[in-house]
Amino acid sequence: MKNLVILISGRGSNMEAIVRACAHEAWPARIAAVIANRPDAAGLAFAASHGIATAVVDHRQYPDRAAFDAALAQTIDGYAPDLVVLAGFMRVLTEGFVTHYSGRMLNIHPSLLPSFPGLKTHQQALDAGCRVHGATVHFVTPTLDHGPIVAQSGIPVRAGDDAAALAARVLKTEHVIYPRAVRWFVEGRLALDGGRVTLSPPEPQWLFLDDVNEAQAHNAGEGA
Ligand code: GRF
Repeated sequence: MKNLVILISGRGSNMEAIVRACAHEAWPARIAAVIANRPDAAGLAFAASHGIATAVVDHRQYPDRAAFDAALAQTIDGYAPDLVVLAGFMRVLTEGFVTHYSGRMLNIHPSLLPSFPGLKTHQQALDAGCRVHGATVHFVTPTLDHGPIVAQSGIPVRAGDDAAALAARVLKTEHVIYPRAVRWFVEGRLALDGGRVTLSPPEPQWLFLDDVNEAQAHNAGEGA
């Protein structure tokens, strides 16, 4: 049984998708805790209502990043995690923190990395005239929004799309690929080979949703 600790900053819809998939697909894992850096993170209520331990490490209470990261790591490690899952966790992490969880921390970023690290990814994709946009699950390395890619999802960019429309469609695909990637980790199927990830036995590490309604069909747990 693997222990997962999920970090959120707000809504927590990716965390919800992972919690639901873990239960519905009976992963050999438990969500040991959901930790937020903001006391008002909406996702905390969902986690608590599902009997999951919650904690807040409020970054505003610490003088600098290093002090916050040290407190955060102490809280995380209290739950003995096999994997730390960043799910909309909106803090830049120090190199020491990232190194401590090397090979056992995943993130999801709403772009097809290595394009568009950072913020406002959907607008960046529109401004660049991209015809395809998406999301990436990757192992976390000290470079922001970088690191070995575990899974990617794509959607077409349609005429008339704005950033909000893209964000909504990409998010649907995130709810499919993130639980899938976490399950692969839990099943011990991911290996790191330099900057690349190998999945064994292999299966597609990508998802392309032309019609976002298809997302439901790919994610038995969501909305259930
Ligand atoms: C997602 O788009 C994720 O890719 C990004 O932040 C958003 C978090 O959404 N890192 P939620 O909190 O999981 O609903």
